[in-house]
Amino acid sequence: MQLTNLNVAAEQVSFRQAVLQGLGQQQGLFMPDRLPQLAVESLWSLPFVERSQRILAALLADELGQAQVERLVAQAFTFELPLVPAGDGQYCLELFHGPTLAFKDFGARFLAQCLNAFAGEQRQTILTATSGDTGAAVADAFYGLDNIDVVVLYPAGGISELQEKMFCTLGDNIHTLAVAGSFDDCQQLVKQAFSDAELKAEFGLTSANSINIARLLAQICYYFEAVAQLPAEQRQQAVVAVPSGNFGNLTAGLIAQAMGAPIKRFVAATNLNDTVPRYLASGQWQPEPVHHTLSNAMDVTSPNNWPRVEALQQRYGWPQQNLTAIKVDEASTAAQLRQLASGGYRSEPHAAVASAALAQSLQADEVGVFLGTAHPAKFQQSVAQILGVEVPLPPALAAVVDKPLLSHPLAADLTPLQDYLRQQLA
Ligand SMILES: Cc1ncc(COP(=O)(O)O)c(C=O)c1O
Repeated sequence: MQLTNLNVAAEQVSFRQAVLQGLGQQQGLFMPDRLPQLAVESLWSLPFVERSQRILAALLADELGQAQVERLVAQAFTFELPLVPAGDGQYCLELFHGPTLAFKDFGARFLAQCLNAFAGEQRQTILTATSGDTGAAVADAFYGLDNIDVVVLYPAGGISELQEKMFCTLGDNIHTLAVAGSFDDCQQLVKQAFSDAELKAEFGLTSANSINIARLLAQICYYFEAVAQLPAEQRQQAVVAVPSGNFGNLTAGLIAQAMGAPIKRFVAATNLNDTVPRYLASGQWQPEPVHHTLSNAMDVTSPNNWPRVEALQQRYGWPQQNLTAIKVDEASTAAQLRQLASGGYRSEPHAAVASAALAQSLQADEVGVFLGTAHPAKFQQSVAQILGVEVPLPPALAAVVDKPLLSHPLAADLTPLQDYLRQQLA
């Protein structure tokens, strides 16, 4: 597979290079030059892993070979993803049954398999920013690997206590930094570090954020799964609502659609951080200061993956109605959480944002699917408070609550980050 840097058209790389490099020159994102069209009718009856092997082989087998693609997929995708009725003509595709209870497990585990296969003896440092769940998924996927260090930056006080416990208590090759700033500051720091050629070479820096194409490609697979689990007569009517922060998940959905997934249209749902809904309405890209919300992993004002969405839109010329962006405020998020619960479905704030946007947008002849991106227990406090119920912790979370945090505080500046890397990893 050949990919091109969206900022520097002359930089063309293989999948392997794109994975190892993360980000291209001038902070450009890599995009596949060509997306193969799949004969989708033959895919619906296959189990998830086998179907995903076919989808990713269509993209990657020319470079990696069929057998390696099949191995990477089988090792990464080891958990279920049920499509569960959630009332009012909606289904939730539950993507939170992996080891860290969030959709990030799909991308992070596939990326870990790829890096492990590609890095060889060369030492690698994964440098990544998280607004909550990436940190845990990446840390879990890479924990204990010999020649890979993971450095995770997160906004101090900006993620839930449980999220913090999930990745800041591991130690060993997992290094966590509580940054005095927002998620956007963390993301900016990561970008600056990648722009520092010396630092990049010194530590073999690579990224595990959704800027890394391996993560996105893994996420394509579950859009096909959503369609496959729908009753056959509804497969052409699916409207998929994506709770969006950095817009990586939406990008993967659009790629799936470009490859033939018969998704009728998408709803990109944001919380109060509504740069994209305002942009689509006005044509003005005007990020505002961050709003802290119940769906904190979506508190992103400068979504990293937006250039990929625009590149796809330009390439495929989809009609405007293919992508609707809707902002959902805090009261509506809580109300939707209650609405879902009254129909017997317990959710959490991120998915509730998507479900609320879907409820606003869904037409009578359509079937709605929203992505369940995290387990309700990961947002135990807000879910318990809004619904007035106890939310028990699943074993993966119960095991970490009493462990001490091992994070270091960090000022939101490149120099202290450089110093930290040189002291801790040299
Ligand atoms: C639970 C949850 N939902 C939604 C999102 C948003 O996904 P994306 O950044 O791909 O738009 C995130 C991202 O961190 C998340 O953790």
